[in-house]
Amino acid sequence: MKHEVIEKNVGLLALLMVFAVSIGGLTQIVPLFFQDVTNKPVEGMKPYTALQLEGRDIYIREGCVGCHSQMIRPFRAETERYGHYSVAGESVWDHPFLWGSKRTGPDLARVGGRYSDDWHRAHLYNPRNVVPESKMPAYPWLVAQPVDNSHTDTKLRVLRTLGVPYTDEDIASARDAVKGKTEMDALVAYLQVLGTSIKNKR
Ligand code: HEC
Repeated sequence: MKHEVIEKNVGLLALLMVFAVSIGGLTQIVPLFFQDVTNKPVEGMKPYTALQLEGRDIYIREGCVGCHSQMIRPFRAETERYGHYSVAGESVWDHPFLWGSKRTGPDLARVGGRYSDDWHRAHLYNPRNVVPESKMPAYPWLVAQPVDNSHTDTKLRVLRTLGVPYTDEDIASARDAVKGKTEMDALVAYLQVLGTSIKNKR
């Protein structure tokens, strides 16, 4: 029996297993690089403004992704609570993406527009002020710290090399756009745009 040869030879078996698995992997993974549905931004999506982008970096710095996912799965329990499930085209300009894998707090993929700016400010300053039972940490320093704009234009330029359609004007005005803003302003601006490219169309 030819199959016995394979079963009795661990090296050969391992090699053939890798071969079989990689065919499965390749047929699933490779097409994703060429499909519009995973590569194309959703219609009407705009790149983050300079302020939103700085807010995103504060979100990363403060570790919000450790407790909040940004990925609504296509299940009824999720879409009823959070809204339209997340689609790949919403993340094509996110470098790195912040889908996350931990939900100590709610998913934030469509939090944009759900609350007022003032609600977010009060909440981030001290979550207990608006949600008494909250165990989210307080971030009071955000109101006191100005946004560091020394690299804002560079950030936009780097993102442009990765395919985000920033114009020369966007880059030239980036530093001024965030000048005098606090980190709280930036973070709230970021939260308020999350998920809106799809929600707005409904
Ligand atoms: C230790 C875990 C933890 C961390 C870290 C954390 N959060 Fe939260 N967050 C929660 C929990 C729990 C809730 C639900 C209770 C509440 O609303 O305060 C929440 C709620 C929220 C909400 C309201 C969402 C909704 O739909 O009601 C927003 C917005 C939010 N967090 C933003 C942030 C941001 C921005 C950061 C980083 C600066 C952050 N969180 C960091 C745990 C966390």
